This record gives sequence, structure tokens and C-alpha cells, in this order.
Amino acid sequence: MSHVLTAREAGLPAATVMPGPELSVVIPTFNERENVEELCRRLSMQLAGVEWEAVFVDDDSRDGTAEILQGLARDDRRVRVIRRIGRRGLASACIEGMLASSAPYLAVMDADLQHDEALLPAMLAALREDADLVIASRYTASGDVEGWDERRRWLSRTATRLSRIVTGVDITDPMSGFFMMRRAVFDNAMRELSGLGFKLLLDILASSPTAPRVRELPYRFRPRAAGTSKLDSMAVQDFLLLLLDKGIGRQLPARFVMFIIVGAFGTLVHLMILWVLFRGLGLEFLAAQATATLAAMLFNYAVNNELTYWDQRLRGRAWLRGCASFVLACSIGAVANVGVAGALFAGRNNWLISAASGVLVGTVWNYVATAFYTWGRR
Ligand code: GDD
Ligand code: MN
Repeated sequence: MSHVLTAREAGLPAATVMPGPELSVVIPTFNERENVEELCRRLSMQLAGVEWEAVFVDDDSRDGTAEILQGLARDDRRVRVIRRIGRRGLASACIEGMLASSAPYLAVMDADLQHDEALLPAMLAALREDADLVIASRYTASGDVEGWDERRRWLSRTATRLSRIVTGVDITDPMSGFFMMRRAVFDNAMRELSGLGFKLLLDILASSPTAPRVRELPYRFRPRAAGTSKLDSMAVQDFLLLLLDKGIGRQLPARFVMFIIVGAFGTLVHLMILWVLFRGLGLEFLAAQATATLAAMLFNYAVNNELTYWDQRLRGRAWLRGCASFVLACSIGAVANVGVAGALFAGRNNWLISAASGVLVGTVWNYVATAFYTWGRR
């Protein structure tokens, strides 16, 4: 690689040389209007003496968050804003924020003031010393988060144990959304990240080729003062999807596996309805089969919309449009299924292989077609 001229070598006057920040704090936002200004004020106080910048990544908040941030950025060049339109997702937002940074140290924190910014200097000090990754852990000495009920605690402990198995790293709060790392940790993991959902720390740990030296610093997770949580209710789905993706994602995308699981339940729904209509109510077989097929498609669509594509759920009119495209795509899938099975059966006369091949082609078609047309993925 050729040598890059420094500003001084290029002959620029010394006074115009302004080095970039040492620390980028990446902050995802979605409707955080009431919190971002205060957060910037606190960062500025806590990080006095550090060359820092805040990289906000806003997913098209409709409460004016981005406009407020742009106002702050006009007054203070340490504040930067990335706006994403038509996209959602905490982890992918943070990843894009980090990709937009050149700093040697990268931090991720929430915008809602639940993370204790007073911890940032100690986190940075640990990295400058010998740690590769510093996690701000929400756990107190008793090992719990204040205000959690029994069920939430159990979920959290189980999730922690599972993630220990997946990452091979022994930490108390792998779900933390507050951490800081050397740039190399991110650079080494970035091409393997799944970027799904919001367990970014877990994603980074599971994607690192070698285990980073981890340090944990405990702190008290504050209650949210303004705005509402966007993640709590989806924590379990989100976690399972990430585990799936990390476990088998290299062979099969996690969404595809979810799609198949939903499809298996859809088949049960189909058979049940068929049984009721045909055996119970004495409807003609073809009519019963057609009704059951349509019902199963609607079931698959509704459940996939809630679970498989939970992060880009269709609502209102978009729900209806999605439903129509789903039924259309799956009808083509059914034709492909029967066509492939019929052609194979004619050639080899093996009913099982023929049928299984038909189902496979139909399922893959349904997944790819609806991923594109119904939920509009890349
Ligand atoms: N850009 C972007 N896009 N930001 C988002 C999105 C999104 O789709 N969803 C949430 N955010 C932002 C919020 O605005 C906030 O700054 C931060 O991400 C965390 O969202 P909350 O909704 O406040 O999350 P929480 O407090 O329920 O969850 C906390 O605990 C989780 C583990 O249980 C967070 O610390 C998470 O990071 C953590 O994984
Ligand atoms: Mn929060």
C-alpha cells in the first residue's frame, strides 16, 4: 500500500491540521427526541479531555429526533448524524455507525440515558491499558437487575448460559447494549456479523475469530425517563433468531429456518381444517382442500409477519398488500411443487423422492419470493 501523506507532509499549514477523534460513541436512536440533547451535554462533561465524537444513527424517527440532532451537529462538530430511511434495527444501525468511524476506540450506548455515561472514562482507560473489549454490565453484586420479576430473571439467566455456550466467553451480561472496544475487535468481526435484531455484543463475540480480552465494569441500569422501550417485548424472539443464525447461519439463514418451522405448523393447520371440513362437515374433497390451503397460507403469512419478519412487520394497508403478494407467491410455489414432483415421478417412479423434491423446490421458492416481494428484503 502506498504511503498516505500527512497533512504536514502535504504542505498544509500546521494550524489547519485537526486530528480525528480517538473515541467514537455510536448511539442508535428511534424516537428519542427528549433524550439526545441531554445525552450530548453529559458526554461533553464526562469526556472532557478526550478527543471524542458521537455518531448517532437514526432510523427515520417521526418525532423529530434527527432534526434535533442535526441542530446539535451544526453547533458542535463532535456530533454526527447518520439517517437511514426505510430501515429498522438496533444492531445494523450500530454496525453502520461504526463503519462510518475511523477512531481507534469504538463505543456503543443507548440514547435514552439508561446507560451511565460516567462509566465511559473508566472504560476507555481499560482499553488504553490492556483490554480489547469493555462491557458495562447491568448486574449488581447480587447478580440481578433491579426491578425485574421472577420470570424476567429466569429468562435472563437462561439466555446468559446459552450465550456462554455460543461465544465461549464467560461474562455476566452478554445482552448489554453498552460496551467499548478497540477498533480491531470490530474490524475482525465485521464481515461475520449477522446484524439481526439487537444483541450486538453477542453477535460480535460470536463472530470474533479469537476471543478478545474482555473486562466487565458493573453499573446501575437507570430506569427510562422519557420515551418508550422498543425492544423489551421482542427480547426472546430476537435472541433465538441470533442463536439460530450463529449456530447454523453459515449453512442456512436463520430466517429460512424460522420460515420452515412456521410452514410446518401451517401444514398442521391445513390438515386440521381439511379434517373438519371434509370428514366432519362432509364438504367435497376439492372444496375442502382448497379452503384449507387458503387458510394455511393466511396462517403462514400472519405468523411469519409476526415472528420471522418481526423487525419489519407489515401493518394496516401494507398488511393487506403483503397478504396478497404472499398468497400469489405461494400459489406459484404450489404449481412449481406439483410440476417438479410430476416430472420426477414420470422419470423415476419414486413417489417419495418426487414429492420431497417438489416440496423442497416449492418451499425455497416461497421463501425467496416472499422475502423479496412481501417483506422487501435485499
Ligand atoms: N436506529 C435504531 N433503530 N435505533 C433503535 C431501534 C431501531 O430500530 N430500536 C431501538 N433503538 C434505539 C433506542 O432509541 C435506544 O437508544 C436504544 O436503541 C435502546 O432501545 P430501548 O428500546 O431503550 O431498549 P431497552 O432499554 O428495552 O433494551 C436495553 O436492553 C437490551 C438487553 O436486554 C438496551 O440496552 C439494549 O441495547 C439491550 O440489548
Ligand atoms: Mn432503553
